[in-house]
Amino acid sequence: MSEPVRIGLLGRGTVGAALAQLIEEREGAFAAATGRRPEIVGVLRRTEGEFDEILERSEIVVELIGGTDPAREYVLRALRAGRPVVSANKQLIAQHGDELFDAASQAGVQLRFEAAVAGVIPVIRVIQESLGATETAKVFGIVNGTTNYILTEMARTGASFDDALAQAQQLGYAEADPGEDVNGADAAAKMAILARLAFHTPVGLDDVVYEGIEGIQPDDIAYAKEFGLSLKLLGVAERHQNGISVRVFPCFLYRGHPLAPVEGPFNAVMVEGPSITEITMSGPGAGGIETASAVLGDLASIVSGTAPVHAIGEPLPVVRDLSFAFYLHLEVADQPGVLATIAEVLGRNEISVHSVVQRGLGDDARLVMVMHETLESRFAAALEEISGLDILRSSPRVIRVIEEEFV
Ligand SMILES: NC(=O)c1ccc[n+]([C@@H]2O[C@H](COP(=O)([O-])OP(=O)(O)OC[C@H]3O[C@@H](n4cnc5c(N)ncnc54)[C@H](OP(=O)(O)O)[C@@H]3O)[C@@H](O)[C@H]2O)c1
Repeated sequence: MSEPVRIGLLGRGTVGAALAQLIEEREGAFAAATGRRPEIVGVLRRTEGEFDEILERSEIVVELIGGTDPAREYVLRALRAGRPVVSANKQLIAQHGDELFDAASQAGVQLRFEAAVAGVIPVIRVIQESLGATETAKVFGIVNGTTNYILTEMARTGASFDDALAQAQQLGYAEADPGEDVNGADAAAKMAILARLAFHTPVGLDDVVYEGIEGIQPDDIAYAKEFGLSLKLLGVAERHQNGISVRVFPCFLYRGHPLAPVEGPFNAVMVEGPSITEITMSGPGAGGIETASAVLGDLASIVSGTAPVHAIGEPLPVVRDLSFAFYLHLEVADQPGVLATIAEVLGRNEISVHSVVQRGLGDDARLVMVMHETLESRFAAALEEISGLDILRSSPRVIRVIEEEFV
């Protein structure tokens, strides 16, 4: 029998319990792949175990507690004590990455966190290792399964956001407190991690501009179907000539876009670069056993001795004013000249209209438009003017559109 590799398990909830089960089931395959048999030598829970004792007994520490406190302290102490660490904790890596990577590098041990982004999809491994030496221009995708499930259900059944969220909670696709999923913060933390690795620069949560899907109405999705669009919450990290941008926003995609068919709780991440053209990876974005499988993969990599390079250069400026195409939904007064008035404001701000749908009568009159790409600042100026017009019956609704191949 091969020599055991001694694993200290911090947290034995959904993912931790699944990892314990997977280690038992896959012990032989793990030993065949790495030459060592995995063995959990200590478990820390709120009511079980003692950190110092577990640290003392472990060769590798797995952090599956979640949150930043006390996870940060435990991970730092483990790294400083010379233990490689595997974590699935996106908030911890996004918020305290610099400190943790420094500690890992000073101790000469690995910090791996494949499960922190896009569940079982090996996106970190691909960006850090397979593409470690290539130039990455853009990383983008659907990195939150809860919101993708909600948007899929809204499109499929016409359900309201609240009803689709309640269903996601019933099926276990959304937490009891879904705040960070639906407001985009969870996706923002994941995109900060991906941007850091792809562009080799420090990226903090403050550098990510994010919005969520709470304001999406069923009729936005219905109108978008008329334009041939489907709605996703996208994370987009991009390298520009003068810096980088990292964004999370709801976005309409044309039907032929590779991310358009990604439905339900699935995630998908695309990577673009001059020498790779485009790679798309998709799969389950969460789930106990799926996340545990990514953790097991990190453990196997550490035991086999493969180490990703984690070279971080100077901070790059964050570009704030980007170009997007926009969808604009206006509830308007049912009177002549409304379209001409809106078109005049858009024209004066040099924004051109791709398509327009006019619907409803009286109190239901509305104007739905898709613009061609324009700078956000220019669109914001036009929107401010439009919002002040007395022909509007409510605040305008705006959603970004990825226009490629859709023009
Ligand atoms: N669930 C998923 O599908 C998924 C997907 C991707 C990533 N993740 C990440 O995986 C990590 C774990 O998630 P999870 O869903 O497994 O969480 P969970 O079910 O809430 O389990 C958390 C575990 O940590 C323990 N714990 C909490 N606070 C502690 C403290 N102060 N001291 C010691 N132990 C403490 C809990 O102890 P008790 O057992 O005593 O309560 C529990 O065993 C998180 O970072 C999460 O973001 C989860």
